[in-house]
Amino acid sequence: MEKIVIKGGERLSGEIQVSGAKNSALPLLFATLLADGVSTICNVPHLRDINTAVKLLRELGAEVSHEGDCIRVDARKIQSIEASYDLVKTMRASVLVLGPLLARCGHARVSLPGGCAIGARPINLHLKGFEALGAKIQLDHGYVEATADRLQGAKVYFDMPTVGGTENLLMAAALAEGETVLENAAREPEIVQLADALNSMGAKIEGAGTAIIHIQGVQSLKPLSCAVIPDRIEAGTFMIAAAITAGNVLVRGAIEEHQEALISKMIEAGVSIQKEDDGLRVIGPERLSPVDIRTSVFPGFPTDMQAQFMALMTRADGTSKISETVFENRFMHVCELQRMGADIQIDGHSAIIRGIREMTGAPVMATDLRASASLILAGLASGNTTEVARIYHLDRGYEKIEKKLAALGARIWREQE
Ligand code: UD1
Repeated sequence: MEKIVIKGGERLSGEIQVSGAKNSALPLLFATLLADGVSTICNVPHLRDINTAVKLLRELGAEVSHEGDCIRVDARKIQSIEASYDLVKTMRASVLVLGPLLARCGHARVSLPGGCAIGARPINLHLKGFEALGAKIQLDHGYVEATADRLQGAKVYFDMPTVGGTENLLMAAALAEGETVLENAAREPEIVQLADALNSMGAKIEGAGTAIIHIQGVQSLKPLSCAVIPDRIEAGTFMIAAAITAGNVLVRGAIEEHQEALISKMIEAGVSIQKEDDGLRVIGPERLSPVDIRTSVFPGFPTDMQAQFMALMTRADGTSKISETVFENRFMHVCELQRMGADIQIDGHSAIIRGIREMTGAPVMATDLRASASLILAGLASGNTTEVARIYHLDRGYEKIEKKLAALGARIWREQE
């Protein structure tokens, strides 16, 4: 097993390039199943979750090849309609094959994801949506079995905005008969990219990026050719890396409109953020001010940046409060940050952080993807050595993070445990 070792205390400076967004690349890869042809997606990050998606596409019968950062998917022959438990438990986003398979093949069998480290994360709203479109849903031995001759457009109201649910329904409704209206839809940039991609394949979708999306179903879709948008969570993580080390870094590929909540909270904390031609320049202050945050759906503060922002607040000059409203169990990083000397108390769905001048490095354990990033950020700002174990979580969502940070002057590397 590998670990990441960090000798903290360096101010980061220079330029860092953001990779393509994992959470955009995954639905786009599954959207290729909607077309009887060969699709190409570029700017795909090299990540474990992408390898899992490729494995799943191959199991379904698609031929997949890599050319640099482009992935070519030949989805002319679909031989299986099943996403197995082994794959879904490795990556929950595998449930996004439900919509495309149901729309294209009229049948899908996908393992229920079960719980995960950050909460229960059911897919009931996806299933309710498919039922509204006329699909028959049965649960059998831990699998969802969905069938429909041809999906029928309908009104779908999401009890809460769900990113995956909105994506699954967008893909299914694109090939349904008649109009579908998604109400209380998620508005994340990844949804907008998926809708744009589907429209480029011939779909008729309007309103993506707002809470109400209209989809006029079409008979068939053309193959997809597109490039993945930059990863706003990776960009945000680098922005915090610059701030927490009182550094000066140009985060190339960071898009202001995708980061408004984070930018305003970082400015409130005393960080300087300037827009440049191809990204955002972040300059960290000597002392950070404490800031309260509350996670919510886009355009609110992203839950995927909560752990990293907490690492930042451990260094603030005062007390801050971070409330998590999206997932019920997303404070697993707190115990590890405490091992590094952070003063944090959990009170229900909130964490109270009393900033300290400097944390001490420690051996810590990554518990999920974004928690891993927060430990690395804390390590960059700590007095001595931090060793982060179980970094397979990190490799699910960050491309060569230690190399990218080392290029900014951080003393960070990967080692065998
Ligand atoms: C996506 C992101 C993940 C991010 C999350 C919230 C991908 C691959 N993953 O996950 O990184 O943390 O959005 O921004 O894009 N819910 C239900 N029933 C459902 C669906 C969701 O109760 O059927 C609940 C979830 O338990 C959670 C909330 O709704 O509390 C939001 O989940 P959702 O937006 O669906 O997240 P994901 O699509 O799984």
